[in-house]
Order: sequence, then C-alpha cells, then structure tokens
Amino acid sequence: MNEKLGLDPAFLNEENPYNLFKIWMKEAEKSEINDPNALSVATVDSAGQPDNRMVLLKGLTEKGFVFYTNLESKKGKDLKANPKASMCFHWKSLQRQVRIQGSVALVDNQTADEYYNSRAYESRIGAWASTQSEVMQTRDEFEKKVEEFKKKYPDPNNVPRPSYWSGWLLSPYKIEFWMDVKNRLHQRLCYSNIGNAWHQEILYP
Ligand SMILES: Cc1cc2nc3c(=O)[nH]c(=O)nc-3n(C[C@H](O)[C@H](O)[C@H](O)COP(=O)(O)O)c2cc1C
Repeated sequence: MNEKLGLDPAFLNEENPYNLFKIWMKEAEKSEINDPNALSVATVDSAGQPDNRMVLLKGLTEKGFVFYTNLESKKGKDLKANPKASMCFHWKSLQRQVRIQGSVALVDNQTADEYYNSRAYESRIGAWASTQSEVMQTRDEFEKKVEEFKKKYPDPNNVPRPSYWSGWLLSPYKIEFWMDVKNRLHQRLCYSNIGNAWHQEILYP
C-alpha cells in the first residue's frame, strides 16, 4: 500500500499504525541514548490554554497509549476538565517523529496496581510524598515527607497505590509518522480511524 503512495520503505506496508509504531519504537530502543519511550503529552485546560510536558510510555495495547502520573497534578486536572490529549515522540537518532491525537480515560485499578507494584520502592514512596505540581516551601519539607512515608510503609512488598496515582490511556483517532528527508522534503504518513478502520493519507511536509 505504501509503495503505491511512493513512500520510503521505512514506513513499511502496515495497514495498522500500531504495528508501524512498534517497529519504529524497537529501532529507537536500539539507537536512542536513553528513554526511547519518552514523549511530550499536551493537554488543554478549562480556559483553553494548552500545556505540555514529558512523560514515559508505560503501556501499549490495541486500545491505546498509557502513561502514569499523579491525578491531582496540573496535567491530571487538565485531563479531568478536558479528556483530550495529544502525544509527540521525537527520536533524534532516527530523525523521526510520531504525533498522536485522541481522547483519554483512566486505566482500570488492576492495571494501575500492576504497574505501580513493578516500580522501585523509592518511586512508590515518592508517589505518596509528592503532591505533584503544588508549590513546595523548601526541599527539606519534601525530604521529611519521604522519610515519614518510609516509616509508614517500611515493607517494600506492601506499599499501597495512592488513590490519586494512576494511568491515563489515550485512545487515538489520528497517528502521524514523520521521517526526515534531505532538503526538507520530509515524508509524512497519517492514519485516521474512521468507522473502526484505519485510513492512510500522505501529507505535504
Ligand atoms: C524524560 C521525562 C520523563 C518523565 N516521565 C514522567 C511520567 O511518566 N509521569 C509523570 O507524572 N511525570 C513525568 N515527568 C515529569 C513531567 O515532565 C512533569 O514535570 C510532571 O509530571 C508535572 O507535570 P504537570 O505539572 O504538567 O502535571 C518526566 C519528565 C521527563 C523529562
């Protein structure tokens, strides 16, 4: 199909954008110096103001792309008010970008528990100690809270997940793959989900 569109073979003949994404991610895992799963996630607050920040992709299923965070954080509040987001991956080593648009919903508790319990003890304590995005008076205040929660939950095998800490699943309706071509004649392949089927279009760079 992509041959018909005259695209670079690196786009492959994938009718499903998840397959192409997984192939590109595998290549990024080999070539990026760190965090190939890092992405920028953009949200829009109730006043229409966009914001964005980096997070890590921690789940990928046929339902969509998952990252974990504090639900009371700035991004958590934005997503509660406006459950739409976009994601952007940029792999410098490959000169490739993937942009994703969609709506978000929380993952189920079991999925969140499984991921939370896979994290290091200190990270799980950090989730308790950090009121993410709130103003901190001194760093000392935070470090004291870390010590307090270590005392409260001394057993690394038994640190419950805070109710305000979970994962957002972005279900995409658009996924665009971009790759660098010399002289800025870049190639773009855009998949749109229409009526439960993925449609491909190529875009001017
Ligand atoms: C490479 C990288 C990965 C990050 N991963 C996460 C993440 O998975 N979850 C998260 O809550 N914050 C993550 N952060 C921190 C966020 O960028 C951000 O500072 C924090 O979540 C607060 O954002 P907010 O105030 O917009 O809610 C990451 C930062 C970087 C630079």
